[in-house]
Amino acid sequence: MKERIAVYPGSFDPLTLGHIDIVNRAAKLFDRLLVAAIQNPGKTPLFSLEERLQILKSTFAEKPEIEVDTFSGLLVDYLRQKESFIVIRGLRAVSDFESELQMALMNRTLSPDTETLFLVPSARYSFLSSSMIKQVYQLGSEVPSLVTPMVDRLLKEKFGKG
Ligand code: PNS
Repeated sequence: MKERIAVYPGSFDPLTLGHIDIVNRAAKLFDRLLVAAIQNPGKTPLFSLEERLQILKSTFAEKPEIEVDTFSGLLVDYLRQKESFIVIRGLRAVSDFESELQMALMNRTLSPDTETLFLVPSARYSFLSSSMIKQVYQLGSEVPSLVTPMVDRLLKEKFGKG
C-alpha cells in the first residue's frame, strides 16, 4: 500500500511547544510526516537554517515516523518532489484564519490536488508564537514552559544570558 505522507512546513524560528503539539497530532494521522523548515523565510530569521534543523532533528530524533527536512522556493514544488499532496498547518485562533486561507487557496491554485489540513493545538498554546517567544527573551525574560530546554538555552545564548 502507498505510504500516506504529509508535510508540515514552517519557519520554526524557533520551534515552540505549539509546533511540537501539532507535529504529534499530525504524526498520528499519517505514515510519515515531513517537518520542513523553509530556507529563506520572508523575514531574516534569528536562527540560521542549520540551527533550526539541529533543533528539529534533536527534538524528533526518537520518532522514526517524523522526518526533518528543509525546502526553498514554492511549497507545492517541494510537495511534488516528496510525492505528497497534504500540507499540515496549525490554526490557533480566528486571527490565523485569513492568511492561512490565502496560503491554502494559493497552493491549491498552483497545484489543484493540494489539500491543507488545519489542526488545532492544545488550548494552552493557542496564544503562542515564535515571534512572541523571541521578544520575551530579547527583552530579558524567559518562558521555559513554552519551549524545549534546548531552545530555552539557545535563546538565552542568542540574547547574551547563556
Ligand atoms: O511558520 P510560517 O512562517 O508561518 O510558515 C510559512 C510557510 C513557510 C509555510 C509559507 O511562507 C510557505 O509555504 N512559503 C513557501 C513559498 C510558497 O510556496 N508561496 C506560495 C504559497 S503562500
